[in-house]
Amino acid sequence: MNFELKSLSADQAAVLSVDALLVLVPDAPIPVSASGPLATLVKDAVRQGDLEADAGKTLACYKVPGIKASRVVLVRAGDGSAASARKAVTAGVALLKQPGLKKLGLVLSLLEKGGAAVRASMQACADASYTYTTTKPSAKARAVQQVVLGVSDATGARADFEAGKALVTGIELAKEWANRPANHATPALLADAARKLGRTPGFKVDVLGPKEVAGLGMGAFLAVAKGSSEPLRFIVMHYHGAAKSSAPVVLVGKGITFDTGGISIKPAAEMDEMKFDMGGAASVLGTFAALAELRPAINVVGLIPSCENMPDGQAVKPGDVVTSMSGQTIEILNTDAEGRLILCDALTYAARFKPRSVIDIATLTGACVIALGAVRTGMFSTRDDLAAALQQAGDAALDLCWRMPLDDDYAEGLKSNFADMGNVAGRAGGAITAAKFLQKFATELPWAHLDIAGTAWKSGTAKGSTGRPVPLLVQYLLDEAARQQTLSSVGTVKVSAKQKTGKRSGKA
Ligand code: BES
Ligand code: MN
Ligand code: ZN
Repeated sequence: MNFELKSLSADQAAVLSVDALLVLVPDAPIPVSASGPLATLVKDAVRQGDLEADAGKTLACYKVPGIKASRVVLVRAGDGSAASARKAVTAGVALLKQPGLKKLGLVLSLLEKGGAAVRASMQACADASYTYTTTKPSAKARAVQQVVLGVSDATGARADFEAGKALVTGIELAKEWANRPANHATPALLADAARKLGRTPGFKVDVLGPKEVAGLGMGAFLAVAKGSSEPLRFIVMHYHGAAKSSAPVVLVGKGITFDTGGISIKPAAEMDEMKFDMGGAASVLGTFAALAELRPAINVVGLIPSCENMPDGQAVKPGDVVTSMSGQTIEILNTDAEGRLILCDALTYAARFKPRSVIDIATLTGACVIALGAVRTGMFSTRDDLAAALQQAGDAALDLCWRMPLDDDYAEGLKSNFADMGNVAGRAGGAITAAKFLQKFATELPWAHLDIAGTAWKSGTAKGSTGRPVPLLVQYLLDEAARQQTLSSVGTVKVSAKQKTGKRSGKA
């Protein structure tokens, strides 16, 4: 999808050469001074009661005198907040699915607040017109291909526009990989996708195979991969946006390209959806794609342990005990609790980067779907500041999460008679006990865990990846880069104050 940003008054939007106009109408009254055909249409529609005041209410018009685009959809955008703008654009684009509609004018000029609404509108527009085509040759090409975004002040909206573009790139890369069937998204193919991103300046990607992973002593990860004839991959991605000395954020994405459950095999119903079990990995790839466009001043490492979880003569069996890279032994009581087994070794590996924070992202538990549904991602953290930063990033990006507890009592059920721990702890509090398992491998780390089992994809007729939590992660990284910048500029101020008083000895 191709976006273009323009300063446009309502009058200028009326003469825009596009196939359709989608005009966001705020609750706030339209200034009396605006009197062209578009402003008049809006005012009349509101006055006559044809455009109700709820965000998302629409009025579709056709061949309006004085307006160049033959289709005009007016949509209510409430208070003009990001959330209302998203609702409005989603409703508006749904009415604009005509074949031959390629170029859309998205008019935000009547809204007062620019910023967050610009990003949210772009994201909603991309989301509403997204179509998966890779393994579906009969799919119709994406309806809206080109979007002219009209705002009252393009200079003021530029930064949000750039962020919006990068987010859409990242979200769509995540969707693409998550949507691909498992035979078109093997660990090796995921690694190729990462390598491709690695060609961007400032990026470096290393891919480890079974031998290297065995050499590292990742016995838990190896155990999960054993039942599959697809060889595992451990993908290590680097983005350098700040000084070498600046501690990185490490993102760890669960990359199970298909989860049958292994010997503890899953029931047949909806098992196809387990192709989405690499949604965490897809979100790391998507986040790196956004970083490539935004280039924030921060260092980021992406780690993706990737393999299939299959039943086989070679597969790991319930009761088998394996030794993780940390040295702790694990009794694999249920081979379907495989995500934590590949993540625990990746978390141990993460420590070598002396990270400022480590965030793992995983479609980890069905229990999290029961707890939070499809609205909020489950968020766990041992650090209050990290938890607060993630919560805020999610709020700002309209990609919500909710903090869950990590009381030690929840770890009781992980005790084993035959190993340092078991990999499951019964049905109660399943999302939390899974997090407690991971915590045993992150004791020295500023760590957070995002359980995206309920939020990474939709089931039913709208089956498909959501691209979440790319918006949350990108927002967190941008916020973190800004925080870092503020800290280092505070440092600079201190030095120059010293210089002024002449107290500094030695050469500058
Ligand atoms: N990938 C699944 C989690 C999952 C299940 C995500 C349903 C989305 C929808 C994970 O590997 C898994 O199988 N977890 C088990 C854990 C259990 C065996 C302790 C689960 O949630 O049932
Ligand atoms: Mn599983
Ligand atoms: Zn899984």
